[in-house]
Amino acid sequence: MLKILDIHTYYGDSYVLQGISLEVEEGSVVAILGRNGMGKTTLVRSIVGFTPPRQGQILFKDIDITHKPTYKIVQMSLGLVPQGRRIFASLSVLENLRVGARGQGAGTWNEEKIFSLFPPLKERAHHKGNELSGGEQQMLAIARALMTNPELLLMDEPTEGLAPLLVRTIGDAILQLKEGGLSTLLVEQNLPFAIKVADYTHVLSKGTIVYSSTPGELWQNEEVKAQYLGI
Ligand SMILES: Nc1ncnc2c1ncn2[C@@H]1O[C@H](COP(=O)(O)OP(=O)(O)O)[C@@H](O)[C@H]1O
Ligand SMILES: [Mg+2]
Repeated sequence: MLKILDIHTYYGDSYVLQGISLEVEEGSVVAILGRNGMGKTTLVRSIVGFTPPRQGQILFKDIDITHKPTYKIVQMSLGLVPQGRRIFASLSVLENLRVGARGQGAGTWNEEKIFSLFPPLKERAHHKGNELSGGEQQMLAIARALMTNPELLLMDEPTEGLAPLLVRTIGDAILQLKEGGLSTLLVEQNLPFAIKVADYTHVLSKGTIVYSSTPGELWQNEEVKAQYLGI
């Protein structure tokens, strides 16, 4: 679904991603873990074309998207749930969903399906973005991305700042989406959360992948957890 081949990404002279390679297979959830400032968001920005890599290649559904503009990448069915949610504060829940809507075929996302995945959003349908709790805003950010009918979802720290009960709600949703066949690249700092939902995990430090394994192996690896995740 997504293949990243030795990408190197810069902000001006600042060399951030120093040779990242990874793969997200169809229908799987791959988690990228790492502390603040290690390059997780830069990886997401590289994939969606906000900050394209200067070297290396990104293939989405076997098509080279490395130097395509963002709108073309997104049109290929890639959904983004950005860090910090970025929903429209002055628009209602329904309006936020409708501006994201795309595609009308069978089995595609609509408001009804969204509300069955996230029942709290139904009760808040006419409330504005800025009237929602952090957890509701995160549900809405995911819902808005789903309304574009993505085949691959990129999620940047969806549990940031959420209480444990809401973290569980988001986790259940990701697992339900996986059952439906959606592929996901998940960026996280919350290790227990990532372990529960991911099929495979990578640890990012200073712009390189320093460790890769199944979630179970990472959970057992006290050395990696202490050195790179501060746990
Ligand atoms: N727009 C930017 N311009 C310059 N440097 C940036 C920019 N965004 C991030 N950085 C730097 O790139 C590094 C990685 O940042 P980021 O990808 O946001 O990390 P993470 O998401 O893991 O916290 C950090 O050193 C950060 O200061
Ligand atoms: Mg980040």
